[in-house]
Amino acid sequence: VSKPDIGGGRFGARIRGEWMLEPRIHFLNHGSFGATPRRVLAAAAAWQERAEAQPIRFMTRELPPLLRGAASELAVFVGAQPDNLVFVDNATSGINAVLRSLELKRGDRVVTTTHVYAAVRNALAYVCERAGARLVEVEIPFPVENLTDPLEALDRALRPGARLAVLDHVTSATALVLPIDEMVDLCRDHGVPVLVDGAHAPGMLDLNLEQLGADWYTGNAHKWMFAAKGCAFLWASPERWQTLKPLTISHVTEGIGAFDWPGTRDFSNWLSVTEALAFYEELGEDDVRTHNRELVIWAGKMLAEAWHTTLPCPESMIGSMISLESPLDMPPTKEAADQLHDRLWDEFRVEVPVYSFGGRTWIRISAQVYNQKYQYQVLAEALKP
Ligand SMILES: Cc1ncc(COP(=O)(O)O)c(C=O)c1O
Repeated sequence: VSKPDIGGGRFGARIRGEWMLEPRIHFLNHGSFGATPRRVLAAAAAWQERAEAQPIRFMTRELPPLLRGAASELAVFVGAQPDNLVFVDNATSGINAVLRSLELKRGDRVVTTTHVYAAVRNALAYVCERAGARLVEVEIPFPVENLTDPLEALDRALRPGARLAVLDHVTSATALVLPIDEMVDLCRDHGVPVLVDGAHAPGMLDLNLEQLGADWYTGNAHKWMFAAKGCAFLWASPERWQTLKPLTISHVTEGIGAFDWPGTRDFSNWLSVTEALAFYEELGEDDVRTHNRELVIWAGKMLAEAWHTTLPCPESMIGSMISLESPLDMPPTKEAADQLHDRLWDEFRVEVPVYSFGGRTWIRISAQVYNQKYQYQVLAEALKP
């Protein structure tokens, strides 16, 4: 990292022991499932013990205010009003709750982009097919040089007949930070309700959800915010709560209360968000984001040079991940991508996702505070042409 004092010298090898990651592996995929620090796991275990000490008292008396308290802390972190935010298990559930709450009609048009996450594409295809609506994917070329053409294409797709837009804040395989403010503004100009898939955004980007002006926003706390797995949120603007329903209808049938009691479950992963936030804030919010962005840009440029390629997007579209084209001559199939993934792990102990997108193969690197520069050099050498 260019400024060695980011994080006051606490990051890299010095902080790695906070995680349970195996020694001597090069874990360059924080993006897929995050990696939960030991102390957050310990906090979740402590919540489980407290619940089991007197299960009735915990579930009926203690839990409701505890849950709202944890949701409020999370809300402050993402720039949201606490009453507009609920916990969900993951971004996939948040997206499905919104989609299943809408009544699409025959002939409606639902707009997304060609970078939409595959599971979200499936959910969209399902609700569209059921209603006789049409799913339109606006093309964003990749590599991308500028967004003038894609934004114009989005503008055209939002013409009358568009009933919903589903837009990524950070794309998955291609790791692009999209200009979400501009895209949401376009949707508002056309009066098209917009759901933002911010699966990767919390902890990677500075968020102000009330200001963004979307209708719904879902994000994971278990990726870049260090929460335990199964901890995510769904935010909705005040006027959307009346019709927004959780995937499971339970005792409470309306508003945020409907999400706060999805039936009996282990609430420890949601409650441990408090510890995740404390950890994140102790590391320093700005330090974490700046460190990760600078490290991934350094690594991206180093890999691009080693592999005779270029960064796939302007630096303004980079958060804590970059997808670089594989330097190998290989068919752009999922099978070949999976084989390369397995080879990097088996031979080099490099854990990094390999994707096939747009007829080419991409290797997506993540940067987190426990990573070190030499780990990306191991990857560079492993595939050096
Ligand atoms: C853009 C996007 N949406 C949704 C998801 C799904 O997240 P989860 O598995 O936590 O539901 C991901 C996961 O990587 C993603 O990248």
